[in-house]
Amino acid sequence: MFMLKPVTFAICGCGCRGLEAYARYQKLHPEKMKIVAGADVRPERLTMLREQYDVPEEMCFASDKEMLTQPRLADVMIIATQDQQHVEEALAALDKGYHLLLEKPISPRLEECMALLKKAHEAKQAVVVCHVLRYTRFYAALEALLRRGEIGKIETIDAVEHVAYWHYAHSYVRGNWRRSEETSPMILAKSCHDMDILRWLAGERCLKVQSFGALDYFKPEHAPQGAALRCLDGCACKDSCPYDAEKIYISNARSGLRSVGKGWPCSVLVSDPTEESVYEALRTGPYGRCVYHSDNDVVDHQTVNMEFENNITVTFTMTAFTETCHRTVKVTGTLGDVEGDMEENKLYLHRFGQPEQVIDLGSTSNEFAGHGGGDMGMMEYVCDLMAAGGIDGLTSVDASVESHVMALAAEASRVAGGAVISLDEFSAQ
Ligand SMILES: NC(=O)c1ccc[n+]([C@@H]2O[C@H](COP(=O)([O-])OP(=O)(O)OC[C@H]3O[C@@H](n4cnc5c(N)ncnc54)[C@H](O)[C@@H]3O)[C@@H](O)[C@H]2O)c1
Repeated sequence: MFMLKPVTFAICGCGCRGLEAYARYQKLHPEKMKIVAGADVRPERLTMLREQYDVPEEMCFASDKEMLTQPRLADVMIIATQDQQHVEEALAALDKGYHLLLEKPISPRLEECMALLKKAHEAKQAVVVCHVLRYTRFYAALEALLRRGEIGKIETIDAVEHVAYWHYAHSYVRGNWRRSEETSPMILAKSCHDMDILRWLAGERCLKVQSFGALDYFKPEHAPQGAALRCLDGCACKDSCPYDAEKIYISNARSGLRSVGKGWPCSVLVSDPTEESVYEALRTGPYGRCVYHSDNDVVDHQTVNMEFENNITVTFTMTAFTETCHRTVKVTGTLGDVEGDMEENKLYLHRFGQPEQVIDLGSTSNEFAGHGGGDMGMMEYVCDLMAAGGIDGLTSVDASVESHVMALAAEASRVAGGAVISLDEFSAQ
């Protein structure tokens, strides 16, 4: 019988995304994916790579550079290091002949995004950027419905990213994306996914953006009286504070070790989360800091107004201040409207004058958990694309750069107090 060989992968950065989100696909589909090499500066992550995925010792490298000085080791390199490392690694990997699965954001610097775009065109290798939302049933069904013209010509889109108070405190007050200079501005780090989805749903180019937003709340002046610098250091406000680190990492039903188990977010604090190791991290590490006394500077809420071609107007809101972590969207058109909540996984379609149609996209199985099925959906897509010898993916670098231009221009507008910015002028600078 004819057997297809699995697509081989080398993982650059075996952290949350590299080793937990994407590598997991091999466990579901070993016939499609085989991890053959990996690099990380944290030895414990390489131990996990060896133990969980059988990668031989000699194919585990102590840094990106060490792996990238080897000849090409796999068909695809997954680049899942931190935001500002991606482009240097991606350029070197393209030179070695790898196809790329590249974490977003490509880079917080527009000139680096453009340099990668140019290189990808010259190299004629696939560069798929991890805009995982396009691979969810929810957004795929919505996009298909809009392309079929079910609501006529699109006039407006309104989208909200509900980050969730505990997720925001974890990643953007205490965690890796709290300082925009060291990583990326919030609108790029978190919301380049949303910019990408809005561009995809509109089916037209974005022409102008205007943005407002601020870091309003997570600052020392909002600390309640008696707040300690660390939650476990006898904080007088512990019982009433929803942001208390012990609640978020131990007891909170949505994020705590006792409910969610060893995975994200506790796996960010320690590689092997147990009550003992998590408490130790809270006593000594950054995730035990008071949310009002961290060194964060990224915004906690932001809005973007956009004008697209064909007179489509779009609004987007990102807010930290929600109970749950999900996205909502409403699109209006000349013949109807459609709205939905990605968490609920249903679309409510109204063709004007007709009864409501509810499109139930089903529940996401545990196997496909992670961004509403987007993480595994993308891995499936990439393995199939590679097996077919394709290079132009659904979230190719060309499409992704558009979302980055939108996000970076929105940030420039916000910093300028809400100036209207033309994207053509912005990207020509
Ligand atoms: N697509 C998405 O939906 C999504 C979601 C979350 C994060 N991200 C992005 O994914 C990227 C990784 O995020 P994460 O949460 O996995 O972070 P992480 O910190 O858990 O993982 C990064 C890994 O890179 C390793 N590393 C650092 N320097 C290295 C070097 N020189 N060589 C090799 N390895 C090195 C770190 O030790 C770490 O294990 C970020 O750019 C982030 O913005 C994307």
